[in-house]
Amino acid sequence: MKKIVSLVGARPQFIKEAVVGAEARGRNAWKHVLVHSGQHYDANMSDVFFSELDIRRPDHFLGTGSGTHAAQTADVLVKFEALLLDEKPDMVLVYGDTNTTVAGALAAAKLKIPVAHVEAGIRQRPKDMPEEINRVLADHISARLFCCSSLAAENLAREGISSGVWVAGDVMYDLYLKMRRRFTPDETRERFGLEKDGYLLATVHRDFNTDDPKSLGGVLEGLVRARAKSGLDVVLPLHPRTRKRIDEFGLAHLAASLRTVEPLGYLDLMSLTQQCAAVITDSGGYQKEAYYAGRRAVVVMPDTGWRELTDCGWNVLCAPEAADLERALAAIAEPCAYPENLFGDGTAGKRIVESLAV
Ligand code: UD1
Repeated sequence: MKKIVSLVGARPQFIKEAVVGAEARGRNAWKHVLVHSGQHYDANMSDVFFSELDIRRPDHFLGTGSGTHAAQTADVLVKFEALLLDEKPDMVLVYGDTNTTVAGALAAAKLKIPVAHVEAGIRQRPKDMPEEINRVLADHISARLFCCSSLAAENLAREGISSGVWVAGDVMYDLYLKMRRRFTPDETRERFGLEKDGYLLATVHRDFNTDDPKSLGGVLEGLVRARAKSGLDVVLPLHPRTRKRIDEFGLAHLAASLRTVEPLGYLDLMSLTQQCAAVITDSGGYQKEAYYAGRRAVVVMPDTGWRELTDCGWNVLCAPEAADLERALAAIAEPCAYPENLFGDGTAGKRIVESLAV
């Protein structure tokens, strides 16, 4: 039986592994070795996803933790290479666009172990954003590339990558469909003391929004103004990086009028999303999850890898400035038909596992 090592390290990867790992186990498709890099390590950034999404305990923890890009990537690279030499898998599976992704793909490719990349072909500006660097590099050294849409496959074709490319759909959509019977919108909203359709849900964690006081201040000021203008509550689950920067830049007075909460697990975030008025986010995954929940999102980014959602006007891009957030919120209040089935039909995990099993 084939042996496949799957490497995860951050929220979006836990979510994708939950689908692919379960599908592979259910079909006894291959011997599945699960490795956690430790890029995310706080209980509410990691453990919560394993327990909620029934992901089995990883076989190996690399214990990498936080660091500069080079330090973090290099640590995963060195430790993962040693593990691969020991495990000798037939293939390595990586997800998305984090430092864990690029380190895992590079370690495997240099050992001539074929790499499968789930969520391949996403492209966005600025080209120097860490996630863009990671995904471009991972795609170019992968043997199997699983895309969420035909647009992603076209992006790859433009860069000369056509062999090994499969349009499988989005495993995050599979997970959404699988988990939705466990969402508890009323109970969760009441636990947070919120009214139905009476709140905006916001998440901010990207380096270009959080590491610059002007940008982070602009986003927070925009949220404060949105609250004042609309009378809606603004719920802001705080990524540890954002919390740190708010303190460092002296922006706590702005955050004070928002409903800041600890980072949310999958079930709480998805349950709250069901009844929010709108989403404001710079997360790649959450802008899609909002769409799956039938909610529109302001995407605080200069560009998005999920153009299918902005081209039709469902989601709207926005600069990290209060006035622009106001404009974008007005834009998503305009009617827009729900764009159906942009990222597959909920069988991406099955397609990926069937393709890798042969
Ligand atoms: C990373 C990914 C990003 C993904 C996001 C999901 C990269 C370059 N970026 O961004 O693509 O969207 O994960 O959340 O890989 N920290 C903690 N506890 C933790 C984890 C992080 O306190 O459990 C703090 C540390 O101060 C750390 C900072 O958050 O330095 C940033 O974490 P890091 O993993 O480097 O990047 P993210 O912003 O989480």
